[in-house]
Amino acid sequence: MATEPKQLRLAFGADVHTQMSITWQTQQPVDSPVVEFGETPALGRRAAAERVSYPYETGVVYRALMSDLKPGQRYYYRVGSAQGGYSRAYAFRTPQQGLHDFTFTAFADHGTTRFSIQNSRNVAALNPTFHFIAGDLSYANGRQPIWDTYLEQLEVLAARVPVMVSFGNHENERIGEQRIGYIAAETRFAMPNKGQYYDFTLSNARFVAFNSNERDSEAQYQWLERTLQNARRDRDVRWLIVFAHHPLYGSTQRRGNNEGMIRRFQPLFDRYRVDLVIHGHDHVYERMYPMRNNTAVVKQGNRYKQGAGVVYVTCGGGGVSLYDLAPEPTPWTAKRERIYCYLKVRVPVRGALRVEAYRVDNTPIEAFEIG
Ligand SMILES: [Fe+2]
Repeated sequence: MATEPKQLRLAFGADVHTQMSITWQTQQPVDSPVVEFGETPALGRRAAAERVSYPYETGVVYRALMSDLKPGQRYYYRVGSAQGGYSRAYAFRTPQQGLHDFTFTAFADHGTTRFSIQNSRNVAALNPTFHFIAGDLSYANGRQPIWDTYLEQLEVLAARVPVMVSFGNHENERIGEQRIGYIAAETRFAMPNKGQYYDFTLSNARFVAFNSNERDSEAQYQWLERTLQNARRDRDVRWLIVFAHHPLYGSTQRRGNNEGMIRRFQPLFDRYRVDLVIHGHDHVYERMYPMRNNTAVVKQGNRYKQGAGVVYVTCGGGGVSLYDLAPEPTPWTAKRERIYCYLKVRVPVRGALRVEAYRVDNTPIEAFEIG
């Protein structure tokens, strides 16, 4: 049916505890599109959707905001319209308010392969508070219907768990000779600040996402510095976690360390004692020992003192393809593997932050702790 709602995806609203946005697409426009939601399968509340569009759209994109939600509450919902039909019913949970332990998941370089789909299933099964994709989402590369395939495949995860993203090089699209930039990703994902740079806070953790394609943007850099500084001045923030597509350090056949990224961001991450930085771009799993001044502060073990150094993790094995590793790792590489992967991160109120890296077949790659 041309009015069937597809590609359902949740994202945090501006208030992560009480708002959730839902975006979907139909082939043909419908009258009065809505999200119906409530604390029981009987639903009971509704919010009108607005149409969002961009010049190269492949259908009709609708977005609605569910607000005045209770923190830590399970909600049921469906989207659609009386005339055009409704989606199946899904459920999600809003984050708890105040201090609490929680889990999030992440990967990057996702794509539309069977590994991409399996990886979405893997993280959905963990029921994280949110999932983060650190850039290179659909690999549409200008072919807009690929976005539809990608977002239909993502529904298994994104209709149940809010998915937050940062942009990679593949979000900066061109159609033929024409550069269309980030407009597809920006329209299709309901991110704060159109997905360029933003932060949000859960419990005692501040999450900071930025667009590493725009490495030289002064506005972004100044925002990033201010945001990291504010986080470290905030006594309620214990964990400072950054997402950006391009890694600083790495050892694949096609790329080594990224000197431009290092020059620009290493001083900031050191100065504000970022705990964990999550990247993609290199389609492998590669993790550094805690780093300070471009060198590892320790080169053994898997339990590190918080504040001793910044731990960089690249999980670019989201599903699209894999790169060969260079013969030699970097001098600071703690673990690397040419494998499809995902991260499960446990963020505690007390005790250590725990990062577990898994292969797409759910076998463990490694685990480490900071705290
Ligand atoms: Fe990339």
